[in-house]
Amino acid sequence: MSKISAAITAVGAYVPDYVLTNQILETMVDTNDEWITTRTGIKERRILKEDGKGTSYLAIKAAKDLISKKGINPKDIELVIVATATPDMKAASTAAFTASEIGATNAFSFDMDAACSSFLYGMSVASTYIESGRYKNVLLIGADKMSSLINYKDRATCIIFGDGAGAVLFEPTTEDLGLKDEYLRSDGSGREFLQATYGGSQHAMTQDALENGGHYAFQEGRTVFKNAVFNMADATVKILEKNNLDKDNVDWLAAHQANKRIIDATAQRIELDEEKVMINIHKYGNTTSATLPLLLNDYESQLKKGDNIIFAAFGGGFNWGAIYLKWAYNS
Ligand code: UT7
Repeated sequence: MSKISAAITAVGAYVPDYVLTNQILETMVDTNDEWITTRTGIKERRILKEDGKGTSYLAIKAAKDLISKKGINPKDIELVIVATATPDMKAASTAAFTASEIGATNAFSFDMDAACSSFLYGMSVASTYIESGRYKNVLLIGADKMSSLINYKDRATCIIFGDGAGAVLFEPTTEDLGLKDEYLRSDGSGREFLQATYGGSQHAMTQDALENGGHYAFQEGRTVFKNAVFNMADATVKILEKNNLDKDNVDWLAAHQANKRIIDATAQRIELDEEKVMINIHKYGNTTSATLPLLLNDYESQLKKGDNIIFAAFGGGFNWGAIYLKWAYNS
């Protein structure tokens, strides 16, 4: 029997309408467009402004976009995974709510969190379910309402993050397509450099913590930057070496959009031409779990069946890695 591989067969996406530009941020904190552009590559990001709407709102919109583009019946979806670092609430799964709202009433569902690597790790999980032969499709959604964790008086974080969601469908194939290999790693000694400390099980939310902004994301940017540059590039080199690939047979690099300088460093390490590097950080900023599927959505029309795509990500935890996938369709 031929080996079953997991192929991405559809993409969908959603970003909120409100555009938070560098010029608007200049009026909120001590920063400027020139600094943000040269240090990060970001010009604007999208923010979900409406009260009472959480990550599920973004996830549902992205999933519905995919469902209508692909023309599938949501009742046929077997598993819904929501990759997110900002679930709607504790204890109640965001994925369960999302699955019900999109009409995936025959699916089981769960959330998974590996900070900015959530979607990358989610690709590994989703494809393993398909490769097992037990499931015929998995809807993987990367969604984050990062604005819910951001202190808009902290210029170290508020200039970077944005809100958004993207979704992909994994289905089986026996062709030489789909997810080929992965290299995934974690190092928990990094968690002190990027975290939202209060409100989890270790540190309860207290009045004091709230007044001191303990519920907001804190980042020691320089340390995270150094680790991201080293590890994303290293993982990318490792996945290329393991699969006898080089710059000439890699068609695309889809790297987590945290900082344009980190993406450039990864591309330079493998000497990849600039036109093969997917970029949308300038318009969305860092949307955490949504950056990779938003890239696929933006570049979908340029992707060809058989294209070799290298995905790479790095995030809080620390968690990082790279995945090698062969694109499965022409759009
Ligand atoms: O996605 C999850 C993983 N996250 C990442 O990968 C993010 C990694 N980190 C970064 O992208 C960068 O470290 C930042 C964009 C967060 C910061 O850039 P940086 O080049 O590392 O800046 P820095 O923190 O070293 O600060 C350099 C200078 C400092 O001033 P002095 O001490 O040199 O006078 C900062 O106070 O820039 C100043 N600065 C700013 N100035 C204007 C820091 N933030 C700002 C700002 N606007 N927003």
